[in-house]
Amino acid sequence: MASVSVDEAMRRAIELAARGLGATSPNPVVGCVLLDTDGEVVGEGFHAYAGGPHAEIVALAQAGTRARGGTAVVTLEPCDHTGRTGPCSHALIAAGVSRVVIAVPDPNPVASGGAATLRAAGVQVALGVRAQEAEAGNVAWLTSMRRGWPYVIWKYAATLDGRSAASDGTSMWITSEAARIDVHALRGTVDAVLAGVGTVLTDDPRLTARNLRDGTMAIRQPLRVVVDSSGRTPADARVRDGAARTWIATAAEVGAGPDGRVDLPALLAELHHRGVRAALLEGGPTLAGAFLAAGLVDRIVGYVAPKLLGAGPTALLDAGVSTIADAIDLEITDVTRVGPDLRITALPRKRES
Ligand SMILES: NC(=O)c1ccc[n+]([C@@H]2O[C@H](COP(=O)([O-])OP(=O)(O)OC[C@H]3O[C@@H](n4cnc5c(N)ncnc54)[C@H](OP(=O)(O)O)[C@@H]3O)[C@@H](O)[C@H]2O)c1
Repeated sequence: MASVSVDEAMRRAIELAARGLGATSPNPVVGCVLLDTDGEVVGEGFHAYAGGPHAEIVALAQAGTRARGGTAVVTLEPCDHTGRTGPCSHALIAAGVSRVVIAVPDPNPVASGGAATLRAAGVQVALGVRAQEAEAGNVAWLTSMRRGWPYVIWKYAATLDGRSAASDGTSMWITSEAARIDVHALRGTVDAVLAGVGTVLTDDPRLTARNLRDGTMAIRQPLRVVVDSSGRTPADARVRDGAARTWIATAAEVGAGPDGRVDLPALLAELHHRGVRAALLEGGPTLAGAFLAAGLVDRIVGYVAPKLLGAGPTALLDAGVSTIADAIDLEITDVTRVGPDLRITALPRKRES
């Protein structure tokens, strides 16, 4: 096999890491490629699920003795602590790896320190290769670890004129089956799906991740969270159907904000505590407005259908904007056609306060 550069190996490691998306929380996604002394790939691995072997361990097992004197190329600083598995820093040293190339340092104080341990053992360590790309691949985990609350994606569906239902209340289905399949795939990459009690009372959604064609459930289901200040979720609501874990988050349990409703920062802190690193906010318009007004949305994914309604509820209600100068500015990062619909991904620009 031909030798590959460290840069190419890191590109491959980032690709491998992505295979773990949605399955590793509360751990990060990590990919690792091992090169022997000639620069040939002798091992590849990724962290596939929480509690499972880390990427480095999988790659080392493949490489066996060929790891000796070689280079480990890894998307995140190897861990330095014993959790459900042993420290990867020690495993790399024991395998005789002479160089470790890391994209991003580990911000988690519990697990960081791997680079220092490797250096102390005489292993060469380089940091920052394809760092931006690796950061983007692990954005939810890295963001949530750095600040202590989950990465929040607000997803909505609307007509081209921004309506989420017709004036008589009918809303099924604004977007196409292709878009709904895409949403289920998105659900499969997060740890929790959030909806306000208004949506539960109106639409009675299941909020599970499933294959819409044959109805089969995804192996790993996100935690379903109903944001419900006074516990109005009906006993027979579908979110309580036992198909996945559900948390009815009330103001009594989480704490109340100044308006008496569920305190959103406290809700996110509790979700982080429960191991949620990425959360999908599925509305509705009142809850989404409150999240946006509080600056708690990290990414917006809008599915826009080629339809016009002209009247009816909008996809977003009060988001704390009363004058155009206060509009929430977005940077559009992706526009993709999904069936007949458009999927627009955007990042809110940080507001100066
Ligand atoms: N187009 C879309 O993508 C989409 C997505 C979802 C829903 N929808 C539509 O939205 C409609 C329901 O709208 P909605 O606005 O009533 O529902 P909602 O946003 O799902 O729920 C709003 C409720 O959340 C509760 N809540 C708890 N804490 C809150 C807080 N801190 N801030 C704001 N709200 C908080 C409030 O009730 P309590 O105070 O009693 O807790 C509030 O009335 C349905 O017709 C549904 O079809 C559309």
